[in-house]
Amino acid sequence: MTGTDFLVTTPLPDPGMRLLEAAGTVTVAGTRMDHDELAAACASGDYRVVVAQLRDEFDAPLLDKARISGISNFAVGYNNIDITAATANSIVVGNTPGVLTDSTADIAVLLMLAVARRCVEADAFVRAGKFQGWEPELLLGSDVSGKTLGLAGFGRIARATARRALAFGMTVTFCPRPPGDRVVTDEELGEFAGRVRHVSWPELVETSDYLSLHVPLTAATRHLVDAAVLGAMKRSAILINTARGPVVDEQALVSALRDGTIAGAGLDVYEEEPRLAPGLAELPNTVLLPHVGSATVPVRAEMARRCAENAVAMVRGELPPYAVNPEALPH
Ligand code: GLV
Repeated sequence: MTGTDFLVTTPLPDPGMRLLEAAGTVTVAGTRMDHDELAAACASGDYRVVVAQLRDEFDAPLLDKARISGISNFAVGYNNIDITAATANSIVVGNTPGVLTDSTADIAVLLMLAVARRCVEADAFVRAGKFQGWEPELLLGSDVSGKTLGLAGFGRIARATARRALAFGMTVTFCPRPPGDRVVTDEELGEFAGRVRHVSWPELVETSDYLSLHVPLTAATRHLVDAAVLGAMKRSAILINTARGPVVDEQALVSALRDGTIAGAGLDVYEEEPRLAPGLAELPNTVLLPHVGSATVPVRAEMARRCAENAVAMVRGELPPYAVNPEALPH
């Protein structure tokens, strides 16, 4: 194959670009590529591996025409890529697992505390010059200690969130694969055996004071939290989403927050990023972050390293260290 080794849709933080440039030829897209431009670039035969972002959508029609050997996604999630179609076309996909677990759990806890203690409202209050001194009933919020945190999912980030919540004196429950269930052995529970409780999805929904989402986006989890689920939650409950926006029916959430069906929400992800559902930004009982779960300097650097290492392996025809679909690699 001739052409450029790496097409980078958005430059990576250090050391990503350095590692790519040391290993091959690199083209960086001049402007943000839309879907047609990405599809044309992938079909051109000019690039061997695409170094991609979550906003770059690789659907089956694009992948069926693509003349690339790999996609290295700068994220742990890969719901922007049709993995079945990638595998069918012998396109290896890589991701960046492991390095953003703690930073994302930190954001889940930050959102929980920020909503519970009305942090954003309180900050705005002080900045607006409204603070007249200590008052017995100024900006009263909710506790987290002694309350129940329900985890939807029990993967790496859910566990890191559980660890933090236990340190806050919370009761932690979890449902490993909502809306269904699966067996979790004591061995899998590990350090959490006897410290967290496995419950069904309906019980998790009905009993959580804080319901935090830690599931991948799949056909089974799209709109996992819909109007019916919101209606079954406690009126005092707070929803936290650091996973994927479409796991929540965002318009139903706006209605639930507006009419007091639930008490609040802390969101780092949105159904149609970067667009927000109408009305969401006007609600005082929400804290809204711009998808910053992994946004620390060291974490983004490690993600960039893993992403570049994956891409370099793909160009060499080797199995990337973090391959999502190793079976796609031709033998
Ligand atoms: C961020 O959302 C990621 O998947 O890394």
